[in-house]
Amino acid sequence: MPMITIKDLTFGYDGSENNLFNNVNVTIDTSWKLALAGRNGRGKTTFFKLLKGELQYAGSITGVPPTVEFPMEEFPDSEEWRVRKELNLMGADPDIMWRPMETLSGGERTKLMLANLFASDGIYPLIDEPTNHLDRLGRAKVAEYLSQKEGFIMISHDRDFLDHCTDHTLVITRSGIELVNATFSTWWDNNETRMQSEQARNAQLKKEMGSIEAAMKKNAQWSKKAEGDKSRNNPKGAEDHFRRAFEAKKASKLMSLSKNLENRNERKLEEKQSLLKDLEREQTLKITGSEHHDRKPIILKDLSVLRYGERIAENINLTLERGKKISLQGPNGCGKSTLIKYLAGVAEEEGITVEGDVHIAKDLKISYVGQDTSSLKGSLYDICADRGADKTQFSTILVKMGFTGEMLYREVDALSLGQKKFVMLALSLCEQADVYLWDEPLNYIDVYMRKEIERLVKESEVTMLFVEHDRAFAEAVADEECEINL
Ligand SMILES: Nc1ncnc2c1ncn2[C@@H]1O[C@H](COP(=O)(O)OP(=O)(O)OP(=O)(O)O)[C@@H](O)[C@H]1O
Ligand SMILES: [Mg+2]
Repeated sequence: MPMITIKDLTFGYDGSENNLFNNVNVTIDTSWKLALAGRNGRGKTTFFKLLKGELQYAGSITGVPPTVEFPMEEFPDSEEWRVRKELNLMGADPDIMWRPMETLSGGERTKLMLANLFASDGIYPLIDEPTNHLDRLGRAKVAEYLSQKEGFIMISHDRDFLDHCTDHTLVITRSGIELVNATFSTWWDNNETRMQSEQARNAQLKKEMGSIEAAMKKNAQWSKKAEGDKSRNNPKGAEDHFRRAFEAKKASKLMSLSKNLENRNERKLEEKQSLLKDLEREQTLKITGSEHHDRKPIILKDLSVLRYGERIAENINLTLERGKKISLQGPNGCGKSTLIKYLAGVAEEEGITVEGDVHIAKDLKISYVGQDTSSLKGSLYDICADRGADKTQFSTILVKMGFTGEMLYREVDALSLGQKKFVMLALSLCEQADVYLWDEPLNYIDVYMRKEIERLVKESEVTMLFVEHDRAFAEAVADEECEINL
C-alpha cells in the first residue's frame, strides 16, 4: 500500500499568532483506517488541505494518492449501481440519489456523499466530520458501514464512532502530532493518565515556585534594609570617616550577595516555569436566562408541521415549563429542526407552517442557535453588532472558548468548523432569553468543550428546548424528552 511521507512540515496561516504545525514528521500507510483527532482549531481540516496541496507549506509531503474530501460540492464519477449498493449497505433509501440535494435532510445528504465516495475506485477518502447530522441509528449504521471499508482518514469528535471504525489514530495536540496503532479511546485513556500525573507535577512545581518567590521577597526586604542602614548611619566628624567607609563597604557586599541570590532564584523560577505543562483546560462559561411571567411559555397540542404545504411531522404534544429543559428527539428528517425554526420565528423563508394548537407566551424572548453555521457571514464584530449583542461580553466568552485576540478580528470564513459553532453559542450566551432554542449545539464541538457546555446547561435555571444526538448530553441535561414522528 502506498505510504504518505511527511517530513519537516511547518505551516501557519498568514497573520495568525502561532504555527499550526512545526517540523512535523510522520508516515501514514494509506491502507489504515486512520482517525484524525484533536481539539477545535488544532488544524485537522487544515491537515486535509495540506495533503491535498491546497496550501503552501515548508517541508515535504509525498505519496498522497488522488483524494476526495467529504463533504464535497461535486460527486466523483461513479456508476449508479455502485452508489445504490453503498446506500443499501448504509441502510439508506437508494432513491435519495435522484432527489435534489436541498430537499434531503442533513443525515440523508451525509449518506449520499459517503456512498459516492466509496463507489469510486482509486480515490483516497478524506472524511471531515461525517457524524454531525446523523441521528443515533444513522450514526451506528454509518460506523458499521465504515468499519467494513479500508484506507481512509476520518476526522470526528465522536469517541464511540471513531472507536468503531478506525484502527490507527493521529492526534494533533498543543505540542505536536501523536500517532498510535490503537483506537482513539486507548489514546484518550493514556492521555488522561498522563495529564493527571502532569497535573500533580504542576501542583508540586507551583508549590516550589511559591517558596522561591517567598525567599526572593525576603531577600529584597533584607537588601532594602541594608541600604537603609547605610544612609541612616551618617555620623559627623573626621573620626567617623573610617566608620562610614566601613558601613558603605559592608552594604555593597550585602547588596552584591543579595543580587546573586536574586539572580539564582530567578533562574530557578524560570526553570520551574518551563517545566510547568500547559494542560488542556476550559474556563467556566455562564448563561443567565430571564424569567417570563408565563409559567408555561410554550404549549403545543396535536401540532402538525408542514413545509410548502407538505406535512412532515404530526401529533406533536409538548408543554415547556419555565426553568425546564426538553430534549426533542426523533430520527433524521422527522422535522425537529423545522419545528424549532417555526418556534424561533425564522420559518417564513422556508415555507414552514403549522396546524393545531400553539401557545407561545406574549413577548417571549427567544434565543436561537441553528443547526449549521452557514448563516454566519462577515466579520465577528459585525455579526455581534447585527445581533445586538454586547461586544465586550461576546469577546470575553469567545476568549474563554479559546479564541485569541487576533481571532476576534477575523472574518468567519477564516475560522474552523468548531469555532464557527462557538460564535453561534457565544451570541446565544450573550442573550438573556426566556427560552433558548438550541438545534444540535454540540455539532463540530470537541470533547472538552462538550463537557463544559453540558455542565453549563445542567447547572443553570434556563428554559430550553433542544435537539442533540449526543446521548450523554441529552441524558445529563434534559428534564423531559419529546419524541417526534411522522
Ligand atoms: N483561512 C484561514 N486564515 C487564517 N486562519 C485560519 C484559516 N482557516 C483556519 N484558520 C485557523 O487555523 C486553525 C485551524 O483550523 P482548522 O479548520 O484546521 O481546525 P480544526 O482542527 O479542523 O478544528 P474543528 O475541530 O473546529 O473543525 C484555527 O484556529 C482557525 O481559526
Ligand atoms: Mg475542522
